[in-house]
Amino acid sequence: MAVEKTLLLVKPDGVRRGLIGEVIGRFEKKGYAIRGLKMLTLSREMAERHYAVHKGKPFFESLVNFITSGPLVALVLEGEDVIAISRIMMGATKPQDAQMGSIRGDFANQMQENIVHGSDSPESAAYEIPIYFNESELA
Ligand code: RTP
Ligand code: MG
Repeated sequence: MAVEKTLLLVKPDGVRRGLIGEVIGRFEKKGYAIRGLKMLTLSREMAERHYAVHKGKPFFESLVNFITSGPLVALVLEGEDVIAISRIMMGATKPQDAQMGSIRGDFANQMQENIVHGSDSPESAAYEIPIYFNESELA
């Protein structure tokens, strides 16, 4: 048990579909504190930095094209075990594994346009948060 910070994104498909409030609302109602919040469109360079771990995989180009395709909303959430619990709230990456009641289970039907991103480990959170936020932008 530890108080953690995680990077959460409402991806461009979530913004286009009017799901910003729905997604943020779930995390707010769960009780996590919002420490950072902004809307931006990622440059290719930022997108490639964020998804560097996937560079060279067959879906990498398509993933970068998608994540840069329009504005997204980035948040830093803080709370007890927020990294693992927010991943459960998001739902699995594979649509057939995403539980109903999770964000992806309720709103996504494919692998790429899957509404949300969340850091998958403390190391990922420490890598991802500074791509989006300066210290001065975090409450
Ligand atoms: P995310 O990083 O976006 O939160 O998603 P995730 O942890 O659930 O999944 P990850 O393995 O990190 O993959 C990042 C994103 O790449 C796309 N993807 N496509 N076609 C494929 O096999 C494949 N695998 C991953 C998904 O859009 C996934 O969200
Ligand atoms: Mg991931």
